Amino acid sequence: MTIYSRITGTGSFLPPRRVTNAEMVSALATQGIETSDEWIVERTGIRARHFADADVFSSDMALKASNLALKAAGIGVKDIDLIIVATSTPDMVFPSTACMLQGKLGHHGAPAFDVQAVCGGFIYALTVADAMIQSGSAKKALVVGAEVFSRLLDFKDRSTCVLFGDGAGAVVLEASSTPGILATDLHADGQYARILCVPGHVSGGQAQGDAFLHMDGQAVFKLAVKVLDETAHAVLAKAGKPSSDIDWLIPHQANIRIMQSTARKLKIPMDKVIVTVDQHGNTSAASVPLALDAAVRSGRAKPGQTLLLEAVGGGFTWGAVLLNL
Ligand code: ACO
Repeated sequence: MTIYSRITGTGSFLPPRRVTNAEMVSALATQGIETSDEWIVERTGIRARHFADADVFSSDMALKASNLALKAAGIGVKDIDLIIVATSTPDMVFPSTACMLQGKLGHHGAPAFDVQAVCGGFIYALTVADAMIQSGSAKKALVVGAEVFSRLLDFKDRSTCVLFGDGAGAVVLEASSTPGILATDLHADGQYARILCVPGHVSGGQAQGDAFLHMDGQAVFKLAVKVLDETAHAVLAKAGKPSSDIDWLIPHQANIRIMQSTARKLKIPMDKVIVTVDQHGNTSAASVPLALDAAVRSGRAKPGQTLLLEAVGGGFTWGAVLLNL
């Protein structure tokens, strides 16, 4: 019998501190840096983002999102036999954020590891969990995207500090006799490593080099539009489905203009696209599971519907997952 994987529960968490564009504008003005709500909304679609307090780590937000996903799936922590966390902002260099989460969940024994593919991370993590379930090595996986990107932001760089936010999203992925995940598609190209990176590292007991996020916005924009279109078509072709079968497009929430371009190329109207970038900003690996949970909890995404999840991020990494909810 073929084993498939199916999402049985979703959950998410946003830190309570909501920072509007107006607040960003006045905070940056105190440092002599000029920006405006109009510029941010017009170029990105972002109106607000959430920032975690200094004592909150990715695993703390992952825990809150995970508990909600477990509750939605109707299973307990003990039932989980795999934990994967997608993050580029781990609590510490090691252990992994997945092990930190496992400790906080009070879970013992199941494999737990991080996936580092920046904003593509959740799509990577979901694909790995799907493969492990299909192979029979796991039956009930907790798959999480959690980020505190605010820690990486240079608040003297207006071209990046207005774009990102913090949060976490989680799903429970279970073995099933019916699909579930219909097809997956993953890619990376390391030649683009420098157009979006945090080049610092740890050595000699301290952070060395530049530990702020750097981005060539226009190069990222061009590449993102191209590869998101390619991976969307590739995953549909693998599943043998036309784009007209998609009930909801749930793209990485980086920039509304990138989402509009993807939807236009797939001939999907914007009212079938889940948009949270306006309220969350870009939460990197957390953005797709946050948007998925928003779609489910608002009653828009319903059981039996077909969802296309896709993302692109530093590396560069990109990919898509087509699934029946
Ligand atoms: N406020 C006001 N002006 C600004 C700001 C700001 N916050 N930031 C930049 N500008 C200025 C620039 O200095 C420039 O001024 P100049 O013409 O006098 O030199 C002008 O605005 C235009 O700058 P561009 O960089 O050309 O603006 P662009 O239209 O490309 O928009 C943006 C910039 C929003 C970053 C865009 O390039 C973009 O969205 N890129 C993709 C970013 C992205 O999606 N990243 C994440 C994907 S992968 C991942 O999620 C990790």
